[in-house]
Amino acid sequence: MKLLSVVFPFLVPMMSRCSKLVLPLDCSDVHAKNSSVPNGVHTIYPIGATSAVQVYCDMDSLEGKWTVFQRRMDGSVNFYRPWEEYKMGFGNAAGEYWLGLESLFHLTQRKNYQLLVDMEDFEGKKVYALYSTFSIDSESNGYRLHVSGFTDGGAGDSLTYHSEQKFLTFDLPEGSCARSYLGAFWYKTCHYANPNGVYLWGAHSLFRAVGVEWFHWKGYEYSLKAISMKIRPVQ
Ligand SMILES: *[C@@H]1O[C@H](CO)[C@@H](O)[C@H](O)[C@H]1NC(C)=O
Repeated sequence: MKLLSVVFPFLVPMMSRCSKLVLPLDCSDVHAKNSSVPNGVHTIYPIGATSAVQVYCDMDSLEGKWTVFQRRMDGSVNFYRPWEEYKMGFGNAAGEYWLGLESLFHLTQRKNYQLLVDMEDFEGKKVYALYSTFSIDSESNGYRLHVSGFTDGGAGDSLTYHSEQKFLTFDLPEGSCARSYLGAFWYKTCHYANPNGVYLWGAHSLFRAVGVEWFHWKGYEYSLKAISMKIRPVQ
């Protein structure tokens, strides 16, 4: 690029504009390229040209353009996994998956994002929680969460409590909350939300708070049918 800019200075701005269009960073770039693309799986490049990763783009909810980084819907994927897998991601973008903390960190470095958490119970009721700012720190800072600016879409606020916490998995020395609640999350002491907990199909009482929980909507003895966490650049 440096050599090119000497030889063809006029080409560089053009090329960087093109590569931005060719390699979407997130689902809002996918939408910018073609605004009639429906919900579905797309390839994005959170860390540059060699970082292709598949994500589910939600182009419907609250005007769409959401990049989904966490999704539960049928219990088909095991979410009780170690640090390395939460770092790199797992599952299938067409179904249940976790995008990966490293990709998420790089995304939130590049743009200012808002966060939407939408969820559904087994009666088909749907609610959401919206947060006007969302970012995470690097791995060396434990992928610490920063989230604020709650707007209630019926779910209540079970996430602000977790802001400024480090991400924890069962294989970390400080991961006792992950071991107690069979998930991985920005646990504090320990949680109001456990979206990566055990998929338990609705009401459960034997093992309190280990399910896919969102306390301020359903309490600690109800494992949600569906939950997804998704980000979109702030306009
Ligand atoms: C945009 O996406 C729609 C839906 O997938 C598709 O039918 C259409 O051909 C696309 N347009 C362009 C210009 O790629």
